[in-house]
Amino acid sequence: MIIRLFILLASVTGFLHAEEAGALNPVGLMLTWQRDPTTTMTIDWQRRAKELHRPAELQYRPRGEKVWQTVEAERIDFPFSTRKIDRVELTGLRPGGEYEFRGDAASPVFYFRTAPARLEGRLRLAVGGDMRHRQSRMEAINRVAMAEEPDIIYLGGDYAYADGAEDKLYRWYEYFEAARNSLIAPDGRVPPVVGAIGNHEVQGGYTWGRMVNDEARRQFAPYFYTLFAFPGLPGYGVLDFGDYLSLVVLDSDHTNEIPGAQTDWLRATLAARTHVTHVLPTYHVPAYPSHRSFDDRAASLVRSHWPPLFDEFGIRLAFEHHDHLYKRTHPIRNNRIDPEGVIYMGDGAWGVWTRDPHPVDETWYLNRAENTLHVIMVDLYPDRQELYVLNPDGMRIDETVIHLDE
Ligand SMILES: [Fe+2]
Repeated sequence: MIIRLFILLASVTGFLHAEEAGALNPVGLMLTWQRDPTTTMTIDWQRRAKELHRPAELQYRPRGEKVWQTVEAERIDFPFSTRKIDRVELTGLRPGGEYEFRGDAASPVFYFRTAPARLEGRLRLAVGGDMRHRQSRMEAINRVAMAEEPDIIYLGGDYAYADGAEDKLYRWYEYFEAARNSLIAPDGRVPPVVGAIGNHEVQGGYTWGRMVNDEARRQFAPYFYTLFAFPGLPGYGVLDFGDYLSLVVLDSDHTNEIPGAQTDWLRATLAARTHVTHVLPTYHVPAYPSHRSFDDRAASLVRSHWPPLFDEFGIRLAFEHHDHLYKRTHPIRNNRIDPEGVIYMGDGAWGVWTRDPHPVDETWYLNRAENTLHVIMVDLYPDRQELYVLNPDGMRIDETVIHLDE
């Protein structure tokens, strides 16, 4: 009876988790890019305490070849955990190449694909945010997204809802267990994840004048800056795929103020990429919220600083999250509907409890809004962006095409 009570309490508090129960190998796995996505890949291979006799190294080979190459890994402390992360960045890879990798000779073999040097066919992104209120909800959308065989998972914050807190470590374990269970294709392909920071990565959610340096950012958002190799400090960055795609990852006042250095960086980053076919910003707090108030503090800050730059440099599509439902705005330019403007899509409902939207017919900027979990699928072609949105049943609930100027 006492033991049963202990188990009950331990599971309620999250003290008892799947750490020892499951036989997942590896217990967590995440691929991302820190540099050129056509020739590099960063692999995070998590190891439990009892697996740490394994050397800090991973093995890889071009898919179809026999000989494994061994690469030394950096062994990183998983915050507040006995787990470690063995991280390698593979470089000098072939664009559009497929590579197998494994933790050791006894581990399963997975593979990844580098990005192509040029966009000739289609590149498919699965886009969303606000991932894990419940592991089961996150896994439902993971499975819908993976059935579409995305090349890249492009996320906008609020991953595990651990709030940078030691006592919510189990939520990251659940997040990685969900990814391990259902963000890997049946044939072992692991799509890279690129993501922005959200309020639930940070103690206190927002900057509040505390983010005086990178040490403070790391202190208040210990999981994000350890578990996500990109964007890394200070918390925003850009990944350039040849001259056909740039993923612009921003921090909507979580560990970086919006005015000042970050917005200056955004201006320079967009100005230097006017020749790039697809420039896709993502950030957590929406400029055009579907549930929260238009006058919300963070939303107002985002809206007054970033959309004017999107307008100035010809951005056509931006992703925002945080409000926990599906939304697509009309194209907006200078804060008005304009056919040449930016479509803002979101609003962060991958695996959370969802909310009701503002009435679409009474909200000037909303074109579509629906209280539902979803994933936004984005197909990039040389001349257009084709978008379609799937609910947890895999049903197509919205679609649109953005034709790009010559
Ligand atoms: Fe949020």
